[in-house]
Amino acid sequence: MADILTVDRLKAYYLMNYYGVRREVRAVDDISMSIGRNEVYGIAGESSSGKTSFIKVLAAAIRPPLRVVDGHATYHFKDGSIDLTQATPAQIEAIRWRKLSYIMQGSMSVLNPVRKIGKIFEDFASRPLGLSGTDFRQRVVGHLDKLKLDPRILNAYPHELSGGMRQRVTIGLATVCNPEFMIADEPTTALDVVVQKDVLALIKDLQRDMGSSIVFVTHDMAVHANIADRVGIIYAGRLVEEAPTRTLFAAPRHPYTAHLVASLPRIGDTTQRPALDGRPPNLADPPAGCRFHPRCPLAIDKCKTEVPPLVEVGPGQRSACWRWRDVEPLTPGASRMAEAHQ
Ligand SMILES: Nc1ncnc2c1ncn2[C@@H]1O[C@H](COP(=O)(O)OP(=O)(O)OP(=O)(O)O)[C@@H](O)[C@H]1O
Ligand SMILES: [Mg+2]
Repeated sequence: MADILTVDRLKAYYLMNYYGVRREVRAVDDISMSIGRNEVYGIAGESSSGKTSFIKVLAAAIRPPLRVVDGHATYHFKDGSIDLTQATPAQIEAIRWRKLSYIMQGSMSVLNPVRKIGKIFEDFASRPLGLSGTDFRQRVVGHLDKLKLDPRILNAYPHELSGGMRQRVTIGLATVCNPEFMIADEPTTALDVVVQKDVLALIKDLQRDMGSSIVFVTHDMAVHANIADRVGIIYAGRLVEEAPTRTLFAAPRHPYTAHLVASLPRIGDTTQRPALDGRPPNLADPPAGCRFHPRCPLAIDKCKTEVPPLVEVGPGQRSACWRWRDVEPLTPGASRMAEAHQ
């Protein structure tokens, strides 16, 4: 599978200055990975681990104090490559929505409450598509049909729609220009479980239909099991494991992944899941060595001083753990999720 995105040793920090005291939060700290054409890649990790910061770099949506301090993020679009870390604002404008689109965390706010949905589509997509008047309206109506939305909503205001419909509209805005690459940060978290399922199925359908690639973030592992081809696990600003979805659930090779997989709720099971001891590290002053070592049940002395590199540990599977061979592979919840996947 040809890659559409290559991320190379990417570092993005929040660089702040409080009354002369410099503070840097190393939210994305040396991430290398790539995403294939037509691939659905899921990113998981607990709150504050840097998922949104990473995704903002990939979406070319960073604002100070967040800055890329090193590395590259290069898209290989059908008509040429572009490294976002080197691109000019004009080059980024030229790909936004047309080739690269995103649904940001809390993105319902893109729906201006005093504009009708039809106008919002116009603001968003008329120029990138180079269409106006009836041609534009036809294109939008055709697209709404794919989203199973009634064209009459074009005359409605956002508050007149249900939460699920509003989320469909934001997905519609992000997909109306047929982008080659789509980014979604927690696209379903605000929705109830039944609506979540519909929205996920919709995202997957659109992706197949358009032949595009998606990277999406959620800390909900069940969502990954349902729609991702591959999953990457971020811990404290670093990619600590990456594998095809089935493998990740059936045979995690990083203790943090094993914890995430084991903590999946199981129907009818009321026993408490073991909580992970300790807290996620402060990214302004992360622990030396493996950042997970203070909370890791397998940690040895080496883990406190030496950073484990992300290495190939199986077909398509990479783990950044000195003790990956000793990670307990399977829990009942994991096998069920692995079975549920596709
Ligand atoms: N505007 C900001 N200024 C300074 N630090 C920030 C800013 N936004 C985020 N951070 C810090 O960067 C780190 C990573 O945050 P980020 O939002 O990327 O995490 P996340 O994994 O998306 O979390 P969540 O699951 O809660 O959405 C955190 O330590 C956070 O406090
Ligand atoms: Mg986030």
